[in-house]
Amino acid sequence: MKRDLISITDYSKEDYLRIMELAADFERNPNQRLLEGKVVASLFFEPSTRTRLSFETAINRLGGRIIGFSDSNSSSVTKGETLHDTIKMVSNYADLIVMRHPLEGSARYAAEVSSIPIINAGDGANQHPTQTLLDMYSILKTQGRLDNINIFMVGDLKYGRTVHSLLMAMSEFENPIFNFIAPEELEMPEEYKMFLREKGIRYFEHREFTDIISEADIVYMTRVQKERFSDPIEYEQVKNVYILRNSMLANTKPTMRILHPLPRVNEIHPDVDSNEKAYYFQQALNGMYTREAIIAHTLKLK
Ligand code: CP
Repeated sequence: MKRDLISITDYSKEDYLRIMELAADFERNPNQRLLEGKVVASLFFEPSTRTRLSFETAINRLGGRIIGFSDSNSSSVTKGETLHDTIKMVSNYADLIVMRHPLEGSARYAAEVSSIPIINAGDGANQHPTQTLLDMYSILKTQGRLDNINIFMVGDLKYGRTVHSLLMAMSEFENPIFNFIAPEELEMPEEYKMFLREKGIRYFEHREFTDIISEADIVYMTRVQKERFSDPIEYEQVKNVYILRNSMLANTKPTMRILHPLPRVNEIHPDVDSNEKAYYFQQALNGMYTREAIIAHTLKLK
């Protein structure tokens, strides 16, 4: 049976731990030619820098070949070809498809149509499971554990697919605490809060966080995503609602680290970048090792 990664819940806790183990192995030795003779299709129907380039670097480091597009305007989608037909075609050519698409549910649909495994590189505001796995690897590397982590999620918790996936994955570990910091318009959706309540996991909601940031193990900043708003006025009202500055970090735990899936706009001031607690660029590097691990796991190469 093919092994797709569409939602973070497609993986068990054992899978998460296996990915962490493999990512550490690829970090020690990134160039392992496990994909020799294989072709990976990289289909990005929506813009990306890190996800696409780290996947493509991972494929190169594993000795595979890449086909695909970074702009669907260069594909027959512009002539009206459906996602169904595109996936049917590409699954004839490649051994694995990595796909980003703006529509929620598109990756699951692609997996149903495809005869080869699909890795979801982000489907609308729904899920971004490979980001979650690299976030978990970053948490594990910086905190030394995945249990007992107090995570502050800040910004766009409504449309932010990365926080949705991370919440679900971290809830598999012991005693997580979630602090959600968002304006009313961008609060964590009820379905995720209900998910936590049903599992008996503590969460707290705030509008501000400067007076409680000292409790955080991880501050997970997110961008207010202009592309998800249908009303530009609503976006203007919330776009700069939280800006993390270096001066706010004075009383934080020495081990606290700031994560951000990136790209950032204004939500982390550049004066934070030189603080040792700023971990977002290393986090993006961890993405390459983690994506090597996900490919190896998906194709059962290790
Ligand atoms: N974190 C992330 O998904 O970044 P990109 O949109 O640049 O891939």
